[in-house]
Amino acid sequence: MLGWTATFVKSQLFTTVPYPTSDFSGQTIIVTGSNTGLGFEASKHVVRLGAAKVILAVRTVSKGDKAAQDIVEACNVPNSTVEVWQLDMSKRDSIIAFAKRANELQRLDAAILNAGILTRKWATYDGVESHIAVNVVGTMLLSTLLLPKMRQCAKQTGLRGRLTIVGSDLMYIATLKELEAEGKIMEKLNDPAESNIGNRYGLSKALVFYSLRELAARSPLTTDSNVIVSVLTPGACKTDIFRDEASAGGKLAMAAGLAVFARTTEVGSRTLVHGIDSDLPMEAHGRFLMDCKLAQNGTIVESAQGQDLAQKWNKELFHLLEDIVPGCTRL
Ligand SMILES: NC(=O)c1ccc[n+]([C@@H]2O[C@H](COP(=O)([O-])OP(=O)(O)OC[C@H]3O[C@@H](n4cnc5c(N)ncnc54)[C@H](OP(=O)(O)O)[C@@H]3O)[C@@H](O)[C@H]2O)c1
Repeated sequence: MLGWTATFVKSQLFTTVPYPTSDFSGQTIIVTGSNTGLGFEASKHVVRLGAAKVILAVRTVSKGDKAAQDIVEACNVPNSTVEVWQLDMSKRDSIIAFAKRANELQRLDAAILNAGILTRKWATYDGVESHIAVNVVGTMLLSTLLLPKMRQCAKQTGLRGRLTIVGSDLMYIATLKELEAEGKIMEKLNDPAESNIGNRYGLSKALVFYSLRELAARSPLTTDSNVIVSVLTPGACKTDIFRDEASAGGKLAMAAGLAVFARTTEVGSRTLVHGIDSDLPMEAHGRFLMDCKLAQNGTIVESAQGQDLAQKWNKELFHLLEDIVPGCTRL
């Protein structure tokens, strides 16, 4: 495998990300964090490609309404094609209420769990550090709560379901040091004195990949469970995700790096659409996708240390999910 730097440069500068052409006719698709950035552009593609209903799952409904209007106008579709539903991924009650509503849909063919944060500011939600709360716990809770509906839909329509989580290739270079030593991983991650906030975003994307792999293992593809679950990276893209970069120097370096390497938001969004392609191969189940292809798991997964930590982490995480919604991990 190439080192991370070479992989990154090859992906960002020498790879063409294919323009989406999948047919989503008749399908109902959820995209979280879709009022802006990659989620917005991906939603536009999905509507353009014929989806019957696209649900913009957003924290602020007024922002979602504006996005919905822009998509409807750009794609020249009836207003009813795009719905806006409230969802705050940092609030467990909001996720549970959203999933309950989704379970009442006539069908749910695919979901792009895209909402995510990157920040240098320390914050907690329900006692859980913010990256872990939103990018991992909230995202995995929503995955487990949507999966039964998606299985039911796949059985009813004969069309394989697809649920993808927007991760990041920064997971490849996250240090796992914070997960080491005795005691509960979650307790360390929630302790500012034990935490390296600069590493936290990449680490959260590694942890969500660990958990997605566990979900895939617990939910193998069968006729009763015909839903592919995956994690993808859009690559570095020119979006507002870096808005909380703390120092002025950091902001400047980030802007310069993005100018050289980053994809436009539209190009990056193509990878999200690929993650729910109607013809996504079965091999994508439990895998990491990069540049619209299956990618390496990396040493964070393959190393003996990574395997031990993943096992320990998943035990804690799935236990927490059970505490939040009893039965949700019994898949
Ligand atoms: N841009 C990149 O270079 C890059 C690279 C790798 C991975 N990613 C991943 O791509 C995904 C999308 O990011 P982006 O680059 O498009 O950034 P963005 O423009 O900042 O969009 C993030 C989206 O997530 C939503 N969100 C954040 N916290 C939320 C919460 N608690 N509840 C509900 N929605 C919430 C935001 O809503 P508000 O507008 O209400 O804040 C926004 O819609 C993220 O998961 C990110 O980690 C991005």
